[in-house]
Amino acid sequence: MSRPIIIDTDPGQDDAIGILLALASPEELDLLGIVAVAGNVPLDLTERNARALCELAGKPETKVFQGCSRPLVRPLVTAEHVHGKTGLDGSNLPEPTMQLQPQHGVDWIIETLLEADDDSVTLCLFAPQTNIGMAFSKAPEVLPKVKEIVFMGGGFFEGGNITPAAEFNVYVDPHAAHRVVHCGRPVTMLSLDVTHQALMQRNWLNQIKELNSPVGDAAYGMLSFYERHDLEKYGNSGGPLHDPTVIAYLLRPDLFEGKKANVDIEIQSELTMGMTVVDWWGVTDRPANVNVLRNIDADGFFQLILERLARL
Ligand code: BDR
Ligand code: CA
Repeated sequence: MSRPIIIDTDPGQDDAIGILLALASPEELDLLGIVAVAGNVPLDLTERNARALCELAGKPETKVFQGCSRPLVRPLVTAEHVHGKTGLDGSNLPEPTMQLQPQHGVDWIIETLLEADDDSVTLCLFAPQTNIGMAFSKAPEVLPKVKEIVFMGGGFFEGGNITPAAEFNVYVDPHAAHRVVHCGRPVTMLSLDVTHQALMQRNWLNQIKELNSPVGDAAYGMLSFYERHDLEKYGNSGGPLHDPTVIAYLLRPDLFEGKKANVDIEIQSELTMGMTVVDWWGVTDRPANVNVLRNIDADGFFQLILERLARL
């Protein structure tokens, strides 16, 4: 039986590959719906991009919802400098024709979880965690329904990518991330400590291009655009591909290594706002609330994406 998941996202070129990876894996994953949130670009663009990606994958029947247009407490910060004006620059996708679902994404998440069995739905978070933070506050009775929350965000050993201390997703809505890591359900974190080991190589990008399909062309175009920023920033041989690690972890947990540790989120200091403080060495008696992943088999990860995108 395939595992029911909800994707919460702000596409974003790396979100896009995560969405395509999930849509290409119906045997393992039952994608109940996609909820867009403001993050990389404002909400009207992220929800549009999510619909365009479902159409690209030939899955216009996928339910796409619009969630929150700004973080719980702080003003919205966006990342056009990374993703371009549209969020999916380089992809050249046509304007989608499939309809956005009329219900608010947070209400749909609550309704879907309330109807689900206990311990059954996995929440896959590729973005600031506003929608989930809001759902947990509005209807805490949904919590037992959650099997696991797997999120891309944070960074401890690698530091931050939007401030010296904070990773973008957690920085944009630290209050939501704080609610999520303390929610009491199993939480797995894929931080920059992992994704900075998952660097796209030219050879792999060329293989994506050689898929010779609309998905291959769009993925190649958007990733070529997306990596220019990180190549300049890090001076590495390839840019990190963050969000698909969440789906890869569900499909192939054997590609990852980590351990349970306490994670807390800084929500007070402006200097370190949104920092994910990991008690990796167990120097406090705070409970181990998060499965903190630290290593990835990068070759296996990129091979998995290539194989799955070829199915679309
Ligand atoms: C995260 O921030 C966004 O820019 C990416 O889509 C990813 O979710 C990486 O820090
Ligand atoms: Ca994202």
